[in-house]
Amino acid sequence: MLAAKGRLSIRKLMDCESDYKLLFKWLNDEVVQEFYEGKSVKHTLEQIHDEYRSRAIGENYVQSCIIVYGEIAIGYLQYYHLQPEEIKVYGAARNEQVYGIDLFIGEPTYWNKGIGTDVIKLTVDFLFSKKGVHEIFIDPQTWNERAIACYEKCGFQKVKVLPKREIHDGEYKDNQIMRITHEEFKDN
Ligand SMILES: CC(C)(COP(=O)(O)OP(=O)(O)OC[C@H]1O[C@@H](n2cnc3c(N)ncnc32)[C@H](O)[C@@H]1OP(=O)(O)O)[C@@H](O)C(=O)NCCC(=O)NCCS
Repeated sequence: MLAAKGRLSIRKLMDCESDYKLLFKWLNDEVVQEFYEGKSVKHTLEQIHDEYRSRAIGENYVQSCIIVYGEIAIGYLQYYHLQPEEIKVYGAARNEQVYGIDLFIGEPTYWNKGIGTDVIKLTVDFLFSKKGVHEIFIDPQTWNERAIACYEKCGFQKVKVLPKREIHDGEYKDNQIMRITHEEFKDN
């Protein structure tokens, strides 16, 4: 277990079929895909293995995690050292201990209940207090107003918009780059 509070916990993705099948289900769910990756992206179980196994066994700079609510796995989160290109274009204040986070709640019945806010706060607290991180970025697409509202509630601030940065269902979309520093989180 990486972090837990109340009914919520975040654990590492495990190298086991049941975890890969969760990703297979969520990443192929059109309701989720509308907000994450786009409906045109289809994943086979083999592709899931290829992409996520190195992360599950700790051989990738991305740490993949499962979000658990009560006893139920409800979503996916990943955190990672921001790569040099991202550090530069996002305008990070430093080169080290700068992290990025991505996430989705893969069970839509759990959306809009404040759980995403709790997940982000728990993860941000973990990264700042246990991993010695200084600055964390998150990069929702500009049209994803719920995600942006959720991140703002957690203390993230808008830094800049990167135009036409990601393809979503065949169209280039703008990303809203958002940041929180350890100092801002402590003052929150
Ligand atoms: C984004 C996500 C993680 C947020 O988690 P969540 O538990 O649904 O969010 P919360 O309930 O904690 O907070 C959402 C806030 O957005 C608000 N909101 C919802 N829809 C909105 C909209 N269309 N426009 C503006 N605000 C909106 C809610 O009212 C809530 O704010 P409030 O508590 O002040 O009322 C989750 O919805 C999700 O996984 N969505 C699908 C995938 C996705 O978008 N991933 C993020 C990619 S960057």
